[in-house]
Amino acid sequence: MSWQEYYQRHCMRAEQAIRLVRSGDIVSIGHAAGEPTALIDAMVANAENLHGVELLHMVLLGKGSYLAEGMNGHFRHNSLFVGGAARKAVEQGRADFTPCYFHRIPELLRTTLQPDVAMIMVSPPDEEGNCSLGVSVDYTLASALEAKTILAQVNRHMPRCHGDCFLKVTDIAAFVEHDQPLIELLPVEIGQTERAIGKHCASLIQDGDCLQLGIGALPDAVLLCLRDKNELGLHTEMFSDGAIDLIRNGNINGRRKTLHPGKHVSTFLMGSQRLYDFVDDNPSVYMAPVDYVNNPWVIGQNDHLVSINSCVQIDLTGQVCSESVGLRQISAVGGQVDFIRGASLSKGGKSIIAVSATAAGGRISKIVPVLDEGAAVTTNRMDVEYIVTEYGIADLKGKTLRERAASLIQVAHPDFRPMLTEIYEQRFHQKWAV
Ligand code: COA
Repeated sequence: MSWQEYYQRHCMRAEQAIRLVRSGDIVSIGHAAGEPTALIDAMVANAENLHGVELLHMVLLGKGSYLAEGMNGHFRHNSLFVGGAARKAVEQGRADFTPCYFHRIPELLRTTLQPDVAMIMVSPPDEEGNCSLGVSVDYTLASALEAKTILAQVNRHMPRCHGDCFLKVTDIAAFVEHDQPLIELLPVEIGQTERAIGKHCASLIQDGDCLQLGIGALPDAVLLCLRDKNELGLHTEMFSDGAIDLIRNGNINGRRKTLHPGKHVSTFLMGSQRLYDFVDDNPSVYMAPVDYVNNPWVIGQNDHLVSINSCVQIDLTGQVCSESVGLRQISAVGGQVDFIRGASLSKGGKSIIAVSATAAGGRISKIVPVLDEGAAVTTNRMDVEYIVTEYGIADLKGKTLRERAASLIQVAHPDFRPMLTEIYEQRFHQKWAV
């Protein structure tokens, strides 16, 4: 049977496709902007016929209707990253959280989590019958390859990205054609603080470096400060709108990359429609699974890899919490440690934690004597390297506990320095003399 015949025979309405999900199944859902909204809506509409379905998902950008209180008993969300939409449900015990390095999720899917059904979104098939997973390859490809049944929403708006990101039509059990714009994540406003942090980070970046940047105002602020740099590269977990102008302007061209030269390597993408148009059928963007892109040994094959991530709190010894406020889980490790370790394996690599010195409108210092009770240590003090705030750069690598504390106090907000120096004097039995 030709792939075209196969495709036609397996095309159906969402309500029909969703009947392939059974009570007790483990269902993985395509990540972030790759969320197959039409399938999720149909599954939630069919909730009364489903009981004890476990839903594996990472960054939830959509409505998360299966997390509503009335869904208890029908669906149980197992969150691999607690984004904004899942926080309340996790906090209230209606959803679970599984800590795991991003690059290890495909292995977990193969060995422990083992989905029965993968619900994904793909671009329409090309002439050879291959569908691109577009903006979400990450764990989504592995979940599809591992699941017994793949349900795919075929969406003309899903960019046809290039790379190691295709599935054959004949691998997929059900196609639901449903066109809808991808969920957008619009650029956030960049304020004075972010600009100051961006400038300090940019001072650590040299021409020819290969960058990993996270999401949000801070990475965008760093990118704004890179307009006088040349021949930068990207090997990153994700990138967003902020990178487009630098690529178009030639500041980022990947020419000096030691792995995949000339290619902007990423495992998922989140941004505005402008980003999704930019990556569509763009051969310079190379999308690949997260167990490749985020594998520290792969990352380390890029010389001069500079990783930039953020956090919630840092204690004076350099322990970094990036995922909880005390016991309250507000995020997860994501690819932070993957890239910090990858940067440490990279010749000339650097890892940066970029963070504003305070939270809650200046009332709370993010640099603290000890982490809040229950806070998770996301990046440990053996792995940490640069901490950058709006007040400067603290280089912790190879520093004693006393030197670390002194460096961190100097980049803390001035209002909190007296409290921190008092702790310093008690802890190290030394007068503060910097
Ligand atoms: N004490 C109390 N609350 C704090 C806090 C602190 N030290 N630091 C942050 N918060 C609160 C904020 O007030 C905010 O609360 P709100 O949502 O109620 O407004 C919330 O925590 C999020 O903080 P914010 O500073 O707005 O987050 P951000 O968007 O800049 O993201 C991280 C910061 C750390 C959450 C984010 O970078 C992350 O998830 N990192 C881990 C994953 C990662 O690094 N992945 C790799 C790159 S994709």
